[in-house]
Amino acid sequence: MSKQRTKLVVGNWKMHGRLADNAVLLEAVAQGVRGLQGAVKVGVCVPHPYLAQTQALLAGSPVQWGSQDVSAHEQGAYTGEVAADMVAEFAATLAIVGHSERRGYHHESADVVGIKAERALAAGLTPIVCVGETLEQHEAGLAQQVVGGQLDAVLAKLSPADAARIVVAYEPVWAIGTGKSATAAQAQDVHAFLRARLAQKGAAVGAVTLLYGGSVKPENAQELFGQQDIDGGLIGGASLKAQDFLAICSAAAAAL
Ligand code: PGA
Repeated sequence: MSKQRTKLVVGNWKMHGRLADNAVLLEAVAQGVRGLQGAVKVGVCVPHPYLAQTQALLAGSPVQWGSQDVSAHEQGAYTGEVAADMVAEFAATLAIVGHSERRGYHHESADVVGIKAERALAAGLTPIVCVGETLEQHEAGLAQQVVGGQLDAVLAKLSPADAARIVVAYEPVWAIGTGKSATAAQAQDVHAFLRARLAQKGAAVGAVTLLYGGSVKPENAQELFGQQDIDGGLIGGASLKAQDFLAICSAAAAAL
């Protein structure tokens, strides 16, 4: 059985959504979470243009919302960038930083991800810091080395008090959108490693919420969430279907 931490399930819509579809999805999620135990927290990270709509539709519901990235800069001449303070203006509380699709397609270094985490914290957002190894690194037995390095680069920028406010998501790149999830035991191994690494920064840091992401679905969620060091999930594809997302949220409640 897992430790008595609350569970957190966050949807990462990626570049999906349209106003009409979002309204249906958000209303179904807001409605569906009412039946959940209070110990499960639920959030959605939406594309920036939909933050206002999300705020309007989720205000008053227990569902939190946020962005999938924030700029490493506070403000200025950075065309196309969105500052953490701008995200926070929509009463958002979450910001994913360092997703593998940002690290890969946008060449975000571990250092930049650390700065983004700092910016999110300074704006009052909880950064969900993603770490994960590629298939090649996984097969070479480098998972711990890679995720340890990614985590260290973020922790190096934060005081222990700030580090205790982050969420970390372990997302093996080979499991994202592939339908091929890590086994619960594989994920737990890496989570235990990450937890130990976090704890080196202080006891409170060792207790941060650690999510697993990568092909989480209703069928595998409960086993994953039942692991000692897995405090919930970051959900891509399955977060776009209310029924699947809510089933994953229920699995988190069942794993408590
Ligand atoms: P997936 O994506 O659930 O579609 O694998 C997870 C993520 O990239 O956050």
